[in-house]
Amino acid sequence: MTFQLAGNGPKIYEEVMVPLWFGRWAEALIEQASLCISERVLDVACGTGVTTRLAKSKVGASGQVDGLDINAPMLAKAKELAGDLDIQWIESDVCSSGLPSGSYDVILSRHGYHYFPEKPKALSEFLRLLVPGGRLAFSIWDGHSAYTKALCSAVAHHISPEIAEKQRAQRRTPPAEELKQKVADQGFSDVAVQRQELMIDVPLAPEFVPMHLASMPIAGAFLALEEDAQNALIQEVAEMLAAYVVGDRLVYPDAVNVVTGRK
Ligand SMILES: C[S@@+](CC[C@H](N)C(=O)[O-])C[C@H]1O[C@@H](n2cnc3c(N)ncnc32)[C@H](O)[C@@H]1O
Repeated sequence: MTFQLAGNGPKIYEEVMVPLWFGRWAEALIEQASLCISERVLDVACGTGVTTRLAKSKVGASGQVDGLDINAPMLAKAKELAGDLDIQWIESDVCSSGLPSGSYDVILSRHGYHYFPEKPKALSEFLRLLVPGGRLAFSIWDGHSAYTKALCSAVAHHISPEIAEKQRAQRRTPPAEELKQKVADQGFSDVAVQRQELMIDVPLAPEFVPMHLASMPIAGAFLALEEDAQNALIQEVAEMLAAYVVGDRLVYPDAVNVVTGRK
């Protein structure tokens, strides 16, 4: 599985998905990481930089924050959004950055881990890059939400089972105990997994589904549908989520697991 956005994808991701979904999870991760003034932080799989910018606000001018991502268009958007913030952006695969050992006090990663093809190697790279006593905090989805289940089912019916499988894979994450073991196996100590649940509040399906799909790697497959098929897909999602409609919003619970550990 991969997460590669092209064209307008990074723009929509930042303008639509970050405020509605990802910014809220980024704040929750930053809170868990308890960053201090002057710390050196690497945000791995930083995307458009929502977590990276928040980290910079916590470590201040005397701290160092770097954002690393494999996707050049995401990094270009991150640079643009960071403006004058003193953040270094590194285009690299997580496993081959070539950064010096012991460069960081804290490694963060929000919703990147499950995309890494070589997860044990990525974790051992995190360990290498941390100073002794350094902290790791990364978050990934705790499986599907009611919304993502409904969306994947409608994508299977109206686009194809193969495309639905691509979308489902975004949420196919390891259970908490397995995550904990994998991180401990790479040599981290004090490993813990904490589940964070938020009530997600987004526009109703006719407005939200097209925006969400436009910011996903399967955007092209949705946009290639005839208008009637797009509407039928959206209608199916709306019907499956009728129980979550509150006024003119969809309000449903979603959750991540936050994994923390120490070198
Ligand atoms: C769902 S986005 C999360 C972005 C960001 N952390 C956020 O909070 O919005 C996943 C990111 O992982 C990046 N990514 C995927 N595989 C990677 C790898 N092997 N090395 C570095 N970054 C990777 C993608 O380019 C993408 O920007």
